[in-house]
Amino acid sequence: AEIRLEDYRPSAYAIDKVDLDIRLAPKAAKVRARLSVNRRDGTAPGTPLVLDGDDLKLVGLKLDDVVLGADAFEATPDRLEIVAPPADPFMLEIVTELDPDANSKLMGLYRSSDTYCTQCEAEGFRRITYFLDRPDVLSVYTTRIEARRTEAPVLLGNGNLTATGDVPGTDRHFAVWHDPHPKPSYLFAMVAGDLALVEDSFTTASGREVKLGIYVEHGNEERCGWAMDCLKRSMRWDEEAFGLEYDLDVFNIVAVSDFNMGAMENKGLNIFNDKYVLADPDTATDQDYANIEGVIAHEYFHNWTGNRITCRDWFQLCLKEGLTVFRDQEFSSDQRSRPVKRISDVRLLKSHQFPEDAGPLAHPVRPRLYQEINNFYTATVYEKGAEVVRMLKTFLGDEAFAAGMALYFRRHDGEATTIEAFLSCFAESSGQDLTQFALWYEQAGTPVIDVDSRYDAGTRQFVMHIRQQVPPTPRQPEKQPMAIPLRIGLVGPNGEDLEYGGIGGVDVEGDVLRIAEAEHKIVISDVAVKPIPSLLRNFSAPVLLESNLGEDDLLFLARHDRDPFNRWQALQTVALQALIAGASAAVEGRTPDADPQLIEAFASVAGDESLDPAFRALALQLPGEADIAREIGSDVDPDAVAAARNHLRRTTADSLRSTFRRQFEALRDGENYSPSAAQAGIRALRNTLLEYLAHATGGAEGDLVRKHFEAADNMTDRYAALNMIVHAGLEGRDAALSRFYDRHRNHALAIDKWFTVQATAGHADTLDKIRALTAHPAFSFGNPNRVRALIGAFATGNQTQFNRIDGAGFDFVADTVLALDERNPQVAARLLSAFRSWRALEPVRRAAAERALRKVEAKQNLSRDVQDIVSRSLQ
Ligand code: ARG
Ligand code: ZN
Repeated sequence: AEIRLEDYRPSAYAIDKVDLDIRLAPKAAKVRARLSVNRRDGTAPGTPLVLDGDDLKLVGLKLDDVVLGADAFEATPDRLEIVAPPADPFMLEIVTELDPDANSKLMGLYRSSDTYCTQCEAEGFRRITYFLDRPDVLSVYTTRIEARRTEAPVLLGNGNLTATGDVPGTDRHFAVWHDPHPKPSYLFAMVAGDLALVEDSFTTASGREVKLGIYVEHGNEERCGWAMDCLKRSMRWDEEAFGLEYDLDVFNIVAVSDFNMGAMENKGLNIFNDKYVLADPDTATDQDYANIEGVIAHEYFHNWTGNRITCRDWFQLCLKEGLTVFRDQEFSSDQRSRPVKRISDVRLLKSHQFPEDAGPLAHPVRPRLYQEINNFYTATVYEKGAEVVRMLKTFLGDEAFAAGMALYFRRHDGEATTIEAFLSCFAESSGQDLTQFALWYEQAGTPVIDVDSRYDAGTRQFVMHIRQQVPPTPRQPEKQPMAIPLRIGLVGPNGEDLEYGGIGGVDVEGDVLRIAEAEHKIVISDVAVKPIPSLLRNFSAPVLLESNLGEDDLLFLARHDRDPFNRWQALQTVALQALIAGASAAVEGRTPDADPQLIEAFASVAGDESLDPAFRALALQLPGEADIAREIGSDVDPDAVAAARNHLRRTTADSLRSTFRRQFEALRDGENYSPSAAQAGIRALRNTLLEYLAHATGGAEGDLVRKHFEAADNMTDRYAALNMIVHAGLEGRDAALSRFYDRHRNHALAIDKWFTVQATAGHADTLDKIRALTAHPAFSFGNPNRVRALIGAFATGNQTQFNRIDGAGFDFVADTVLALDERNPQVAARLLSAFRSWRALEPVRRAAAERALRKVEAKQNLSRDVQDIVSRSLQ
């Protein structure tokens, strides 16, 4: 069944209060829900009340404390209808019985390593009790949780703790939690288990004392320091940047090891995948530390953008997700290097969202229809959604943007609202018409901007012809022109930004051209000398840029642009063009030409000590195989792509070997490990240089890499070196793998890395190894992190082997999806979306991918999750 945006109607009833009494037991938990139900204005008396359920077992039902007769209701596992409810407010009491141990979908109430926990977004609350399980039904929750004291000494709920005690005459105890803030059911949570607590506190700007707690499995207390530090910095930052304070006396975070996604912003009780909480230098990389910072901030920021102001319906998901990603990006930029953060975010966008937008799973930032909402927690909703908010800021300027945000918080606090309401705040604060801008939420596909420019010395004019085009996407064959903020600069011969007289042919805000038409002719007057245009500075819009700039122009920008993003981008563009040429050469059986200018540019960035090491590391990293494939766009041969990339990497390594080696040895990251941006940047640069060296002809620098592995006193270096040894096929590979395994056998998150490094090796025997690894005692299909570490990493991070020409990679992933679907549909569907670019492959692989998808499609009783992905993929 398809759910459509235009079919939205408010619910016939409201539920103002929810009282839950949850009696926990591993195989038979009882939930008594007492709902205060009100008929909404406009609902005719006697209108049936229809509640959502999913796999529920009803064991008791009363209305105003009277047991309901069999003809007064209709109940199935996924629906409860009260046939003729009273016209006046009433109390509905529902008792359900759950089996947390049997819940392998990890939605609703389940157990992870003996800890009871919940996940309700998007539609998991209906697996706990019958409810109006939709985000526009806001209720005040009181939750009593009861369990055996020894089994679950810790009992946690949303809001503030109001009572605790023993249940007389039993070995059980209880806790009562009350959350005064009305919230939708997807923000409900409870946790119970034998957990260790790491405590701290935070005083808000207005002086409210907040108790902070991070709950983890015993033994992990030492690994919570970083997460706690991130939490406190997030709380301060939201006060300073947005004037937003925390609003309860307690803020708790719980880390669990079995979790379908990253983390969840339940009111006052965030539940996290433990990989986004636990860190110490020995088991977490700098990237892990940065991810923890981002995710802790993200979930905390949801308290305002998501919880205080929530979504009217799930089509509005980007209202909270895109905005909250934008906020966590801004936070990380302020904590670290802004340009480096921007480059990393754009890399992520291009590698995850652009391919999604270019394939059969493309959808608008605000979809208009869905079959399974869980499949829309996508890079488009999150990352492109954040770009749209960022463009709004670029388009309107900082002040109007800040005023719009302030208005949004003032006007919609306590509401479940929409993208239209959000945009209205900015239209009002800026006085601008945002009708065209709103197309960013409606039209899928990555716009292509073509800029053809030239300088006329006679008239001193710089003339730009700009054309935009939005490609067709599923159900959207025709597109309208978009409102695109194009930030530009004119770079003069000495690298300075040139002055100019004026800009004609387009609306301008500062140095941002507001592109609105399919075509513009833009004239910039009074330009004294021939400039090189720096286009799309700071990646001012999520578009694909084409221009008539040549390699010399780009290399000039790579050296001189004062916009660091474009310095990085210019070099990437040159490398990408070389790699695309190299891939065509490989298809034709030729050796790609070396590009000495490019190699020279790498040398110069590597050695430029005026630049941040983190930036130099990013500038030296070659575009990934998937990025090259996306840029090629059709008839892709992943082996040719890999051959071209390996060739460029090897020739660069061979010709810069001694320089890179000298730089590698001269760089020092500091006496004691710290995850600071400064130290992490130095490690990133060292490891990037060493990665080139690892790929020098004949394993010539193997000793250096093995030494780096042996001597590493932190996970960043150890894991980087292990990747090099395994992926470059250096001597000592098996020894290094077993050393790593033995050292970390008790650290699940490190063992995930051990699986991933093997899954991502671009070698012909990788698939056989992966098959063997699925039988390894440490592997489990029940743990989502493990599945993603081995099979997810293979499907999304191993271009040559997943896309094997014999189709064996596709078949393996398809078979895994089918096996997994019965256990955990969400994880299965996510894995299947690795096929998102199958149509861009050359014909032989394309046919093999289609056969694998058809096999999935043909299976009986697919989950809605997998059914939805497979049918859209084949459309
Ligand atoms: N709201 C969570 C977050 O972004 C993610 C929840 C994902 N839920 C899902 N059903 N996929 O922080
Ligand atoms: Zn989120």
